[in-house]
Amino acid sequence: MKIEVDGDRLSREIEDLAKISEAEPPVVTRIVFTPADLKARAWMKARCETAGLVIREDTIGNTFARWLGSDTSAPIVGTGSHIDAIPNAGRFDGVVGVLGGLEAIRALQRAGFHPKHSIELLIFTSEEPTRFGIGCLGSRLLSGTLSADDATKLTDKNGASVDEVRKQAGFTGELRDAKLPPNYYKAFVELHIEQGPILERERVPLGIVERIAAPASLMITIEGSGGHAGGVLMPDRKDALCAAAELILALEQAARRRGAVDTVATVGICDVFPGAINSIPARVRLGVDVRDTNLSRRDEVLRALEQACRATSNKRQIVVHSELLNADAPAESSPEVVAALRQACEKHTYNFLPMTSRAYHDSLFMSRIAPIAMLFIPCLNGYSHRPDEYASPEDIARGTVVLAETLASLAE
Ligand code: GLV
Ligand code: MN
Ligand code: MN
Repeated sequence: MKIEVDGDRLSREIEDLAKISEAEPPVVTRIVFTPADLKARAWMKARCETAGLVIREDTIGNTFARWLGSDTSAPIVGTGSHIDAIPNAGRFDGVVGVLGGLEAIRALQRAGFHPKHSIELLIFTSEEPTRFGIGCLGSRLLSGTLSADDATKLTDKNGASVDEVRKQAGFTGELRDAKLPPNYYKAFVELHIEQGPILERERVPLGIVERIAAPASLMITIEGSGGHAGGVLMPDRKDALCAAAELILALEQAARRRGAVDTVATVGICDVFPGAINSIPARVRLGVDVRDTNLSRRDEVLRALEQACRATSNKRQIVVHSELLNADAPAESSPEVVAALRQACEKHTYNFLPMTSRAYHDSLFMSRIAPIAMLFIPCLNGYSHRPDEYASPEDIARGTVVLAETLASLAE
């Protein structure tokens, strides 16, 4: 069987999807359940229908587009990713795995392949944590990693709950029904840009992901005392932002002190209230992200941060409250799915590197219910989560061919 990917069409589709954005090109912003997200979903579904796929949406909006196999009772071979995008994002994060997954299916159809196991393209809801504070909302729910009750408690910054917002978007029914039955998937493979510099630096076109790092995130609220920036004397101040600055640097130090490249910590949110130049910061919220491939090392950083919160609170007589949003275990890829990816690379004599994913992906949660692996392609300078994110059409097409070969070998 000769598999040929239509790289030109795939590149055009990536460009077209990028135009469905809340921001001006080249910036892509597509926050879950906003008009841009809903428009992008409709656009994707139309493409899946044209390819003859049978579409189903669950109660959180995860979209399943199935190419029926000859044995419809056999477990399914899944692929896919996400099309939501953080504020000020690029065109390729998630999208390569969704449109590449669709093109892999179309390429197999054109090659005359007849799968035994159905092949399903999955478009996950809210891989990005922007709106509801935790990432991978859809895959957490369908894998049973997050209960419907806990999901319902999540709210966005306007206080709207997941439940309200998903229903407004047209996804009704019981949230708990999003959980998939056991043994639904035979295997799940996700194609994604690397979001790091290694493949480009090593001049290797493909990466086979063997493990995904363990992410954790917290929201820290610091309650100080506000007041007039001129009138309140320094000894009398309880400046919440000064306390926050201490915590940010303590976190950086805690991560650096582990001495491992895989330990990373970021404060990506710093909301200052009331946010006026002549007003002492009364309250600060810090959004903290800590990750490591090694769970105990990741947790050491979390403990060091807790300790810093207590120390700063005591020293400054200020209230520091920390809420753990998620602390997930890492994932290991399945040797069988990794072997299928390796064989596909070898068949085409493509070089590949075994890799660790330091970014999280829906595959992290798919690993709780299915054998998984991921395929990475290079991205320019390792840039991601920024508008100049770029993957070349050649690299995308190469990844799509390998994905198609892998899906075929898993589904026959
Ligand atoms: C996914 O977008 C991540 O933050 O790793
Ligand atoms: Mn992302
Ligand atoms: Mn992604």
